[in-house]
Amino acid sequence: MTTAELPTIDDAKLEAFVGQAVVDMGAAISGLLLHIGDRLGLYKAMAGAGPITSATLAQRTGTAERYVREWLGNQAAGGYVIYNPADSTYELPAEQAMVVANEDSPVFLGGAFETIASCYADHDVFVEAFRTGAGVGWQDHDHRLFSGVVRLFRPGYAAHLVDEWLPALDGVVEKLRSGASVADVGCGLGASSIIMAEAFERSTFVGFDIHEPSIRTARAAAAEAGVNQWARFEVATAKDFPGNGYDLVCVFDALHDMGDPVGAARRIRQALAPDGTLLLVEPNAGDALEHNLNPVGRTYYGLSTVICTPGSLAQEVGLGLGAQAGERRLAIVLREAGFTHVRRAAETPFNIILEARP
Ligand SMILES: C[S@@+](CC[C@H](N)C(=O)[O-])C[C@H]1O[C@@H](n2cnc3c(N)ncnc32)[C@H](O)[C@@H]1O
Repeated sequence: MTTAELPTIDDAKLEAFVGQAVVDMGAAISGLLLHIGDRLGLYKAMAGAGPITSATLAQRTGTAERYVREWLGNQAAGGYVIYNPADSTYELPAEQAMVVANEDSPVFLGGAFETIASCYADHDVFVEAFRTGAGVGWQDHDHRLFSGVVRLFRPGYAAHLVDEWLPALDGVVEKLRSGASVADVGCGLGASSIIMAEAFERSTFVGFDIHEPSIRTARAAAAEAGVNQWARFEVATAKDFPGNGYDLVCVFDALHDMGDPVGAARRIRQALAPDGTLLLVEPNAGDALEHNLNPVGRTYYGLSTVICTPGSLAQEVGLGLGAQAGERRLAIVLREAGFTHVRRAAETPFNIILEARP
């Protein structure tokens, strides 16, 4: 490039963007520290503890004070904890505790950072996939993806599934109360099935997933929750899962991960009773990229780049819908599979909930 071709730099714009990138730089390294705090129980030890010193926190968590003090410096600089210089104490406010310490809170985000930690661990694999165009199967990821995803999604399912999403479907709660047959396709570690099984003891639930280790963990979780008599889990793909006449088939945050979502939806339609319902939960997204240029869209495009899209490309057909497909594209997939009625039944800032009927 010659001097004549050098772009003109607007200093104000440059300064603003450097400022933004510096905030992101702090966020990127703090994400790692959040995950470390999550793994070591540092946030849980601080929740409700009031102002404490680094020595007390280290002693309560069996960790080394020097590391904990440095970690606390990062946490204070990021606004996660309040530092009091007068007595060198640190406090985790109740609101922050809901996001980083309390797994039952609807806004708990520890699982998101565990998921992202798995992505950093796998980044060499993604670089290679960009070069070759090859897919990266779900089973090929760092194991924290599986535990991270269930911890990321479970709070939303616990908050909304039984109280809002199922009641938004036509006639489904009545069937679940009297005894319905339900399949949960791409169930992962089974959180959604277990939450439904806890609420509807007369119904039977079967979760299917291609990932055998997830199915084993789901079975253990169902036994732990005491619902394994009516919630079971089997290894199967979305295109060949067994059974027919289901009153309800659910797909939670998994259709866009599949290589052949049309084939999966076609099998689901065939497996439904004539008056059965498909509950499709997908990330909340507008129909075009320009509608998703916000913090949630930014996160989903990021996760989709390294998890969902490569996962789909690793399977037959390899459609690569992406996590931000949007309602219009999803409805096209469902109609292509033979569903005639598709409507948005509910939504949250993170999810759209579609109802589809044969
Ligand atoms: C993002 S995870 C969601 C898991 C679970 N539904 C949840 O909400 O916690 C996507 C899941 O889809 C599963 N999956 C991907 N392709 C599949 C296929 N073709 N058939 C069945 N399961 C599939 C993966 O193994 C993974 O467990």
